[in-house]
Amino acid sequence: MKAIVYEQYGSPDVLQFNELAKPAPADNEVLIKVRAASVNPLDWHFMRGEPWLIHLMLGVRKPKNIRLGVDGCGVVEAIGKNVTQFKPCDEVFGGCRGAFAEYVCAKEDQLALKPPNISFEQAAAVPIAAITALQGLRDKGKIKPGQKVLVEGASGGVGTFAIQIAKALGGEVTAVCSTRNLDQARSLGADHVIDYTREDFTRNGRRYDLILAANAYHSLFAYRRALSREGICVKVGGKGSLGAFFGESLLSLMLSTMSSKRVYGILAKINKKDLQQLKELLETGRIAPVIDRRYPLSETTEAIRYLEEGHAQGKVVLTF
Ligand SMILES: NC(=O)c1ccc[n+]([C@@H]2O[C@H](COP(=O)([O-])OP(=O)(O)OC[C@H]3O[C@@H](n4cnc5c(N)ncnc54)[C@H](OP(=O)(O)O)[C@@H]3O)[C@@H](O)[C@H]2O)c1
Repeated sequence: MKAIVYEQYGSPDVLQFNELAKPAPADNEVLIKVRAASVNPLDWHFMRGEPWLIHLMLGVRKPKNIRLGVDGCGVVEAIGKNVTQFKPCDEVFGGCRGAFAEYVCAKEDQLALKPPNISFEQAAAVPIAAITALQGLRDKGKIKPGQKVLVEGASGGVGTFAIQIAKALGGEVTAVCSTRNLDQARSLGADHVIDYTREDFTRNGRRYDLILAANAYHSLFAYRRALSREGICVKVGGKGSLGAFFGESLLSLMLSTMSSKRVYGILAKINKKDLQQLKELLETGRIAPVIDRRYPLSETTEAIRYLEEGHAQGKVVLTF
């Protein structure tokens, strides 16, 4: 089978489009013939080995697992002996480590059936980005109907889902993005939009009950300034080193003893229950993936280069 592989950390130039043996599923896995995969910032973090903590997770000098890709969608071809919820020919989507290949094995508990009303490409765009938005808003952010919710970085992979999920969960949503993305944010359901090239939402005097910072570009103090008295800010990703992240987390913990405002970081986890909830939202049309660009698997290098520029308008998808 054809697959994207990398044998050393580095720029997109380290990626190769090679022939690999077709994998066999372990007892708790299904073998999927991949029909589409999506690209996430996590892929270029894995590819570059940045931040350095990635080396400790994936291999100190070089990656132990040479395959890339974390989100996929396709058709079940075979199942491991302990798999009970899927059978051959089922169409599935979810977390698939090594999804940039014609075949991938994925754990049963990280998959759900693909909603029949959307394409393979649309379903591949969902897992990490939408689960991050869902867990950020619902679990860490404790979103409640009627709350004022602000999504920063509202035009990227996580942000486009966050606008729609926050609306579906009853929030009054303000989307922060650049000028060219304002109409897209409105069309996804945002009640208000702020152009970050013209206005700094942390200095306009308005307060929010929940801020989901998909791309966080402000200081801890700026986020706290924009929160209502018991407001919560959930930082998903964006600018800043790992050291700064841990430093801010510690400071945030100390500040939370003095006021009821909260600023949290989040590490999203793919799981079947949340994929199932997203499937329902997709089936009822309450959320829909936004796909910016499509690349064939053989052009994964260009897809990652584009995503790394940091200005994707929705998701970048690989087609097979
Ligand atoms: N913690 C977790 O579990 C988790 C999970 C998934 C992702 N992440 C992280 O979350 C971040 C977002 O992921 P993503 O998939 O949404 O990335 P993405 O698709 O690459 O985000 C690109 C978007 O960011 C916007 N952006 C850039 N600068 C901005 C600014 N100053 N203010 C507001 N928006 C800005 C861009 O809009 P413009 O072109 O208009 O600037 C673009 O639409 C990444 O850092 C990723 O690593 C974390």
